[in-house]
This record gives sequence, structure tokens and C-alpha cells, in this order.
Amino acid sequence: SSGLVIAPSILSADFARLGEETRAMAEAGADWIHLDVMDGHFVPNITFGPGVVAALRPVTSLTLDAHLMISPVDPYIGAFADAGADIITIHAENGPHLHRSLQMIRARGKKAGVSLNPATPESALAYVLDEIDLVLVMSVNPGFGGQSFIASQLDKIRAIREMIGRRPIRLEVDGGVTPETAPAIVEAGADALVAGSAAFRGGASAYADNIAALRQAA
Ligand code: DX5
Ligand code: ZN
Repeated sequence: SSGLVIAPSILSADFARLGEETRAMAEAGADWIHLDVMDGHFVPNITFGPGVVAALRPVTSLTLDAHLMISPVDPYIGAFADAGADIITIHAENGPHLHRSLQMIRARGKKAGVSLNPATPESALAYVLDEIDLVLVMSVNPGFGGQSFIASQLDKIRAIREMIGRRPIRLEVDGGVTPETAPAIVEAGADALVAGSAAFRGGASAYADNIAALRQAA
């Protein structure tokens, strides 16, 4: 697919009603559903695991975009693949064997993504560009929704867009994405936007407007 992808993060959803929230976001015009998996070790928060991904799989035909903030990650790649994630994104900071982990994801027939924390330079991608389908630039320190966009990441987004060249790699940005920050993010070269608080604010009756506002701003 081409064009700008809007990927609401269910981290900002009502966890007691995840199925309904996912369905509401799909009806509101979301392109992908972003799933923030946190282990309380790689990041200072705990969310959910492959069981929740499997429970949401029959709820929507949208792309399930799993962002794994867990360490170690390799022992769980199979479980997230079996759960029905379409894209599995792992962190470059996770360990010395990024290339192997990416091969594991593709071997399961899934799209492979690499995420970079705010302090990680784009050079971390140099030798995996042919192993990936997506780059996820963290524009906040991962762990929580509702943080402010770190403006220094715009230069990194620009640099990665240049590195990607003609490869079919999505460039996704995650953290502090709002109608105010989206224009500069897209101008720098992003073609997929994760939005937690900006997508879910105001409750279900506002979701369509929230998504439209992000699309129009960009
Ligand atoms: C942060 C997560 C993000 C988060 C974004 O660790 O990876 O996906 O949900 O939330 P907002 O859009 O509120 O910054
Ligand atoms: Zn995320």
C-alpha cells in the first residue's frame, strides 16, 4: 500500500474494552492497529503479551503492527507471529543479534521492523536495510503514552528517509504525534504515524475526527 498510514496505539485505549476499542478505531478510519508490548525490563512499564494479540486478531482485518519493547525478544517472536501480528518490530538496542532476530521474523512470513530509541543513531540501520520492511523512529523514550515529541528526531527521520532510498521500507514515527507535530514529521519523510493519546482522546465519538485531523494536518 502507499500513502500515509495512521496507526492508533491501543496503549491509550480502555483496556477493559480492547475489542470494542479496536473495532471503533477501524470504523473511524485507522489504517493499522499499533500494539505496544512492554515487559517492565526493556522499558519501565508492563502492558500485554501475545494472548491479547491473538484475542484481537479476529476482531479486525486491519494490519496488526506489533511493537515489541521486550528483552530478550527472540524467544517470543514465534508467539507473536502465531498470534497473528502482521508486522513485528523489534528494537536495535535489544542486543547484539539484531540481524538474526529480523531473519527469524521474516522466516515466520511476517514483515520485520526495527525501532530506534531517541538516543540511537540512524547508523544502527546500515547493515540491516535489506532485512526490513519498516523502520520505527521513537520520538519519545518508550514506555508511556502522552509524552512530548522530541524535536531532535526530525533530523534522524530525514537521514533515514535518505538511507532507505528506493527500498520498499515504511518509515513510521511513534511518540508525541499530534495534529501539531504531524506536519513536520511527514515533511521530514515519515509515511506512517503512530498516535496514542491524539487518536483516543474524547472517547469513541471523537475517533473519526481525531484520525481525520492527523491525516489533514499531514
Ligand atoms: C510509547 C509507545 C507509543 C505510545 C505513543 O512507548 O511506543 O506507541 O503509545 O503514545 P502517544 O501518541 O500518546 O505519544
Ligand atoms: Zn509503539
